[in-house]
Amino acid sequence: MALPALRRPPPALALLLLWVTGQAAPVAGLGLDPESELHIERRSVPTECPRAVRPGDFVRYHYVGSLRDGRRFDASYDRDSTFNAFVGKGQLISGMDQALVGMCVNERRFVTIPPKLAYGSEGVAGMIPPDSVLHFDVLLVDLWSPEDQVQIHTYFKPASCPRTVQVSDFVRYHCNGTFLDGTLFDSSHNRMKTYDTYVGIGWLIPGMDAGLLGMCVGERRVITIPPFLAYGEAGDGKDIPGQASLVFDVLLLDLHNPKDSISVENQVVPEGCERRSRSGDFMRYHYNGTLLDGSPFDSSYRRNRTFDTYVGQGYVIPGMDQGLLGMCIGERRRIVVPPHLGYGEEGRGNIPGSAVLVFDVQVVDFHNPSDSVNITSHYRPPDCSVRSQKGDFLKYHYNASLLDGTLLASTWNLGKTHNVVLGFGQVVLGVDMGLREMCVGERRTVVIPPHLGYGEAGVEIALVSWKNWLLHGAVAAGHLAVCPDPSAAPSPCCCLDLRSAGFRGGAGQRRAGVRHRAAGAGGRAARGLHVRVDRRGVPQPLRGDRQGRRRGRPPGGVLRVHPRPGGQRQREAGSRI
Ligand SMILES: *[C@@H]1O[C@H](CO)[C@@H](O)[C@H](O)[C@H]1NC(C)=O
Ligand SMILES: *[C@@H]1O[C@H](CO)[C@@H](O)[C@H](O)[C@H]1NC(C)=O
Ligand SMILES: *[C@@H]1O[C@H](CO)[C@@H](O)[C@H](O)[C@H]1NC(C)=O
Ligand SMILES: *[C@@H]1O[C@H](CO)[C@@H](O)[C@H](O)[C@H]1NC(C)=O
Ligand SMILES: *[C@@H]1O[C@H](CO)[C@@H](O)[C@H](O)[C@H]1NC(C)=O
Repeated sequence: MALPALRRPPPALALLLLWVTGQAAPVAGLGLDPESELHIERRSVPTECPRAVRPGDFVRYHYVGSLRDGRRFDASYDRDSTFNAFVGKGQLISGMDQALVGMCVNERRFVTIPPKLAYGSEGVAGMIPPDSVLHFDVLLVDLWSPEDQVQIHTYFKPASCPRTVQVSDFVRYHCNGTFLDGTLFDSSHNRMKTYDTYVGIGWLIPGMDAGLLGMCVGERRVITIPPFLAYGEAGDGKDIPGQASLVFDVLLLDLHNPKDSISVENQVVPEGCERRSRSGDFMRYHYNGTLLDGSPFDSSYRRNRTFDTYVGQGYVIPGMDQGLLGMCIGERRRIVVPPHLGYGEEGRGNIPGSAVLVFDVQVVDFHNPSDSVNITSHYRPPDCSVRSQKGDFLKYHYNASLLDGTLLASTWNLGKTHNVVLGFGQVVLGVDMGLREMCVGERRTVVIPPHLGYGEAGVEIALVSWKNWLLHGAVAAGHLAVCPDPSAAPSPCCCLDLRSAGFRGGAGQRRAGVRHRAAGAGGRAARGLHVRVDRRGVPQPLRGDRQGRRRGRPPGGVLRVHPRPGGQRQREAGSRI
């Protein structure tokens, strides 16, 4: 085939027609004998033809060559590989050099080449007799030019694109690799795995290194790469033959740089935020976890349960440890965690390796284990000489809520006061502390950290804000039921009062409800205890209640995502409070 025979310029007009209009115009000379001129029949032309062969292009094609009598003298199919050559550079018989011009990939042509444009009067010994007219059935498979560059065609771009791929970024993408004729040679979908790689530093073929630059997460583009920017003359030795152009249909899923730190976005900080979380705080928060492409991997909302942990102490992935600092109660923020501060190259559960994690977080509350009860007095009557103390019988109104404002209970709703003898374990320690030194008529807000409230098994691990109103008149000074011996049981008269108030596990108290007993802390409620009292009747803080902690765990099998491997430390740590 490489015998350059008579070369004659192609009929210029006809060729021009082919290039410009793509019409199936047979190229015929002026001679009367059809077999003395080149004849081209465009058997099938693909609907899409982004590019047609021009002289100087490199082509890969299949062909069957036969003589006038139908005898087949050669076929690329017999060799199981395409025929590859530059067009119009004398590498082919000149009939073929001309016949290929204007052809599209996937186009099929029947070509009749007269001897003068083929092997002339000499022929090819043992193969093609002298003065043979040759018939070729040609199928174009590939087409490129040495001037080609990587071609990028973006066919989908997401509305928001805060960042695009730069040199040395690490990306994860889905990709279908085909040849120009559409034959698939590789697909991340078939591998059931994304391609994960650095860009622009030689991990990829040069065409892909260039083709991925500037891409957004969620963008889809087709990257067409000539072989000299792909696998070159040799191919990859397996699926990709030599001199093959490659077409990659790419969807970018993930993008980060190893130098990235976490980023905080979409912050919504409530007004009047007085305190910000710091390392060592115990925080309860809700979160939605998604990957950069928006696919969710975990959500505390779905479990209907906050995620609770110490912050900044290594109980959760480093990115969250950093991202949760400096937050206010009620604050929302998005924390974007690069994989090296998340689950690394390994991933975890349904989080793929090298994945950037996006956490939309809302803080429910936090406290520090060293916190004590915080009392703010709103109103104190002018005459405040008699103050409540241990052993006093108090009647008071309260609204109890979580720090995010969720109302837990209110005597105002019940329409009656709560009654208690101070210092006898009738209420949790924090409430007891909050009711001390009050005068009748005083109003105060008491913020109770969980270790002085309902502990880990409490109404979840909530900080409770207690609004007390020591009732004016209901317990007039001098009529406070003072029990004579604080370490003994209340006096019979008191007890009577108290029993009628139903404060010791009676029905009345159970109705009064949530306040002194954790909803859901059934075990303890059954024992009629809402606070631990030691032998002398002194209330004890609720230390890590094993049962409660067990109860407190999310339902089995649910992946709690961001504790780091070995996250048991979180629970162990829980017993510190
Ligand atoms: C690749 O092929 C699969 C299966 O045909 C298709 O779902 C996907 O959208 C294609 N494109 C990319 C970029 O993965
Ligand atoms: C989640 O909690 C809400 C309100 O407490 C409740 O209505 C809902 O049924 C709970 N969902 C699940 C799945 O437990
Ligand atoms: C998490 O997703 C749920 C459901 O889509 C939504 O109601 C909630 O506001 C989201 N939370 C955050 C912090 O974005
Ligand atoms: C107690 O609460 C008040 C008002 O909420 C706040 O200003 C103060 O800093 C708190 N004190 C402590 C020790 O947390
Ligand atoms: C409790 O809430 C009710 C209504 O929600 C309000 O009228 C009352 O003043 C509140 N009491 C205190 C002590 O804050």
